[in-house]
Amino acid sequence: RAGLAYDRTMSDEPHDTIDALSSENRTFPPSATFKADSLVVDTSLYDEANEDDEAFWARQATELVDWSEPWDTVLDWQLPYAKWFEGATLNVAHNCLDRHVAAGKGGKVAIHWEGEPGDTRKITYQDLLDEVSQFSNVLKGLGVDKGDRVNIYLPMIPEAAVAMLACARIGAAHSVVFGGFSSQSLSDRINDAEAKVLITADGGYRRGEVFPLKPAADEACESTPTIEHMIVVKRGGNDVTMVEGRDHWYHDLMDGASTDCPAEPMEAEHLLFLLYTSGTTGKPKGIMHTTGGYLTQVTYTHKYVFDLQPETDVFWCTADVGWITGHSYIVYGPLSNGCTQVMYEGVPNHPGNDRFWEIVEKYGVTIFYTAPTAIRTFMKWGADEPAKHDLSSLRLLGTVGEPINPEAWMWYHEHIGGERCPIVDTWWQTETGGIMISPLPGATTTKPGSATFPLPGVTAELVDDEAQPVPVGGGYLTLTRPWPGMLRGIWGDPDRYRETYWSRFEGRYFAGDGAKLDDAGYLWLLGRVDDVMNVSGHRISTTEVESALVSHPAVAEAAVVGATDATTGQAVIAYVILRGGADVGEQDLRAHVASEIGAIAKPRKVFITPDLPKTRSGKIMRRLLRDVAEGRLIGDTTTLADASIVDELQAKAAASTDD
Ligand code: WTA
Repeated sequence: RAGLAYDRTMSDEPHDTIDALSSENRTFPPSATFKADSLVVDTSLYDEANEDDEAFWARQATELVDWSEPWDTVLDWQLPYAKWFEGATLNVAHNCLDRHVAAGKGGKVAIHWEGEPGDTRKITYQDLLDEVSQFSNVLKGLGVDKGDRVNIYLPMIPEAAVAMLACARIGAAHSVVFGGFSSQSLSDRINDAEAKVLITADGGYRRGEVFPLKPAADEACESTPTIEHMIVVKRGGNDVTMVEGRDHWYHDLMDGASTDCPAEPMEAEHLLFLLYTSGTTGKPKGIMHTTGGYLTQVTYTHKYVFDLQPETDVFWCTADVGWITGHSYIVYGPLSNGCTQVMYEGVPNHPGNDRFWEIVEKYGVTIFYTAPTAIRTFMKWGADEPAKHDLSSLRLLGTVGEPINPEAWMWYHEHIGGERCPIVDTWWQTETGGIMISPLPGATTTKPGSATFPLPGVTAELVDDEAQPVPVGGGYLTLTRPWPGMLRGIWGDPDRYRETYWSRFEGRYFAGDGAKLDDAGYLWLLGRVDDVMNVSGHRISTTEVESALVSHPAVAEAAVVGATDATTGQAVIAYVILRGGADVGEQDLRAHVASEIGAIAKPRKVFITPDLPKTRSGKIMRRLLRDVAEGRLIGDTTTLADASIVDELQAKAAASTDD
């Protein structure tokens, strides 16, 4: 194999993935029918960007975004710090709302919202502008100023988008925390950001029941000295306790709030939001995104990757607003492009396994964007579920969050796309702000399982351990040029920013992913090469779960690995050594992780063991643990301090039954 780096550093990755990819040679060119109405059908955008990427981005910024003042410089690049469109001013909420209303589209539906119990709301651009303006006034009334941070901890209800846009309108930075995170995770993030206000709800609907949020918010706020006010949206109808002076109902504050709140222009590099994501250490990183570059990138990618026909398309991204996908492709991209979209509150299997397909049919969804883990779940439920509904409105499908295996791609193509819809497999990260590697559906011939090529304006390269470019074969994925939507730093930690992303390979952004280039130049993403797991498309750090386990009084030591899982991509597997004399069950430890971090990080299995496999220098051998967890035969254990522990762990793994 050409990719030395691949062989040396990633040989412990599951081999079947690689074998499956190497033998994948089916190709899917865009059909003539699709091309007929497509925005891009040739290489012109790529050619233009190759010629001069700054000029290319400047043209996109001019065409796609409304600016109050023009920029002096397109890009100021002092590695690792980029400033895009300096000197310019704009307001993101104006771009997402006011400009569409001013263009006569106030009556157009911005959001078809569907609650899990079946209740709905139809929100036009005018409605959304009014509600956002009112809520901006509410925030101002509570003392929120430009530059302040506001935390948002909400279910998938329209108020989440309203809250984010209201922050953008007044120049406060939002920090959205996914509603599935625990109170501990929430308070850590609030404290790191030093947020003044927390916006939450009483509860939301999930799988037919109300899950309470306010009690977790209350618990979090016991240790968040910066929070002055909590705003509570009434959604679940569950009982809550309101703290006098601190807590306010959203509907009370909105009652009588003025809809007049002019959108104030912000500097292009003004902080738009923080979004926390897991890294290789226990402490989540507050990824910083700014105004002008981010909006340019999400508007551009939403338009061209999804080949948007703003007058007729109905877009649906199934992510939660608590993740970057929800920020960029529910709130900012689609609204900036003035399109109509669907937003759904709940799970895909309530009341039946066909809920998503019922929604597609009901609203005539034309573009559907979801995660491979969801597609694998739909495969398990069977093709009869989508077959119950008329899915002929669909014309384009997308995936994001993890590598998609060719079988899942083919199933999506046949059973959801009716063999007529192109699939865009989009690679990107919280840090990149928007899509980076993806087909352009009218121009690119796709291959099942490949994210294909970097978008026009993006340059990616694979390198080996010595930072030498790898033209064919496996390597580390790096980005060689700054891009407008790139992160501007880690909140409060510039050293970690430089260290994490810019120090492994000189002059390059290192994404943390491994990838392979085939001989036709197609990119195949192979997953993380660091200690970050990808469970159902969500990033979870092994260290973070280990710290959570060790925080339990009965636990002395813990090692966590991500093991391949047919549905969730990876599953969290923990090995735990108890303190002398301590006694605790597996279920208690799983529950402990859920309460420390959130249910998404709950280990699938916790093995209690007297010892862990370590090298003679005392380093835990994760590769061995992963082999055990994935049921592979153990190879070389000669560097192991005590080889008998592996036999013991294997026996335990063989005896365990998954729940
Ligand atoms: C993974 C989600 C393969 C990757 C937008 C990346 C993917 C991490 C893909 C970022 C894809 C995302 N193919 N892997 N199409 N998309 N990833 O920050 O490992 O939640 O580094 O952003 O997800 O996850 P994040």
